[in-house]
Amino acid sequence: MIFQQVESPDDVAEVAFERIQHWLTAKSEPVFALPTGATPLPLYRRLIEATRDGRLPLARARFFALDEFWGNDLPESSTFRHFLVTRLLSPAGIPLDRLVALPTSGDPERVAATHESAIRAAGGLDLVLLGIGGNGHIAFNEPGTPHDSRTGLRVLTEKTRLANGYLFAGHHPIPTHGMTMGIGTIATAREVLLMASGSGKAGIIGRLQDGPVALELPASSLKSHGDARIVVDRAAGVALN
Ligand code: GLP
Repeated sequence: MIFQQVESPDDVAEVAFERIQHWLTAKSEPVFALPTGATPLPLYRRLIEATRDGRLPLARARFFALDEFWGNDLPESSTFRHFLVTRLLSPAGIPLDRLVALPTSGDPERVAATHESAIRAAGGLDLVLLGIGGNGHIAFNEPGTPHDSRTGLRVLTEKTRLANGYLFAGHHPIPTHGMTMGIGTIATAREVLLMASGSGKAGIIGRLQDGPVALELPASSLKSHGDARIVVDRAAGVALN
């Protein structure tokens, strides 16, 4: 795992954009896993612009959702599927059937097995893009999740629920559970790129660099991956040495 510090959130986006370009050059149908949250938005804006200008054949790729809220009767507008559709796929003109999203309810074991087998059927994950939670979570894998875990249901911490509360904006209680690719599933990717920007992530990025691989810090699992990179802007990387 390597750390790369750049100046701004736009520079973080540029690094991720180049990796997406790389995989689109290397393969006819590369497979990407996409995060939600504030961190990837500059990347998504850049991808939309390049796709609209005809500079990037992004519609050739397959996309997998990393995670999703879990609960009955969740408003569609609060889901991560909606986030990815409205923040990337629709504005970029990418047919929605290029995205394999996760449902918000059903038989959890079946849902998890379906996501895993769809990933296998697509030939595996080429590039997993990640953000990081303030507690070190990746996707919805909270501290304590085994590093060999596969896709499944997780209990969300209060901190994670609060961080995601903006998507529910008072219309609905914030779900207590999430369905997520496992840490072990993410580890099967050929390449993993974790993006972090802003001073709110400086503490966890510092811990990630200094500490060992530990269950309490899910992102530390990437230290055992052969091609994982942590790209941070100046503010998130302030504690790096
Ligand atoms: C959520 C998502 C994660 C994301 C994290 C950080 O909990 N499940 O996939 O990485 O938020 O979000 P942000 O980029 O807004 O800090």
